[in-house]
Amino acid sequence: MDMEFEAKPLAGGIGAEVVGLDLDREIDEATARALNDVWLEYAIVLFRRIGTSNERHLRLSRVFGELEVHPVESIRLEGTPEIIRLAQKGDQNQMTYYFDGEPVVGRIPFHTDLIYTTTPNRGAILRMVERPALGGETGWIDTAEAYDALTQAQKDRIDGLEARFDFVSDLRKMRFGRTHEIEIADFGNIDYPEFPDVAHPLVWTHPISGRKSLSLSPVQLIDMVGMDRTEGDPILEELLNHTLDGRFTYLHEWEDGDMILWDNWRTMHTARGAPPGYDRVVHRTTMKGEHQTGRLI
Ligand SMILES: [Fe+2]
Repeated sequence: MDMEFEAKPLAGGIGAEVVGLDLDREIDEATARALNDVWLEYAIVLFRRIGTSNERHLRLSRVFGELEVHPVESIRLEGTPEIIRLAQKGDQNQMTYYFDGEPVVGRIPFHTDLIYTTTPNRGAILRMVERPALGGETGWIDTAEAYDALTQAQKDRIDGLEARFDFVSDLRKMRFGRTHEIEIADFGNIDYPEFPDVAHPLVWTHPISGRKSLSLSPVQLIDMVGMDRTEGDPILEELLNHTLDGRFTYLHEWEDGDMILWDNWRTMHTARGAPPGYDRVVHRTTMKGEHQTGRLI
């Protein structure tokens, strides 16, 4: 048994950094188990500067479960379909928004991946390949920490309630979590499939750790199930104000080769985007989620 790494909580208390992991060779079973324990405990795990190749990215990703091949073929990396490439390059047709009048490419407010399906993925690893000279940060919220910090009265109030989610590709249609005036500059050229509405419990119980977390994902959040909006919206606003207030957030300023692993069952994340003209390339792997958290409406 040869555990060479150390897990250190990140400054601010959300997430952890793994230091000293050797990715030049295969990861042995004991190390893999210990890495999974870190993932379960901290939900957001940073590996600084060691993601220097696709091989290393895949080697680390496979420690955390079976990888999912992305349904959109055009963003898969040739030869390694488990990796998708998300690129903002100046010469491509990009989705550009104005946030309070400032043009931003690639910004996505806080969300949980695949919340608009009944079976969100287990997790993912993002690797910074080409850091933009300006902007491009990614933020995560630990929604289990956010749940724990609710009052007992708040916890009792939302116990057993469900919220409705839908696929929202146009940020101007977000009903919740709006911190800026959003206008569109260029909607880009992506064709999105249709998704039926789904309901998720507001409180998720993690199938492995048993920890409870808030399921809010403001980009796709529509309303409360079985409640008038006049009654349901204030409940959601209160939970979002609590969750988005910064106490449960880790914002990462990337260096090339950084990788961040997250538990999609216990986090939300946001891409801050960059001004037009700043190139940014990230690679991403996705861990399958076999656990159904929601239901079709
Ligand atoms: Fe995402």
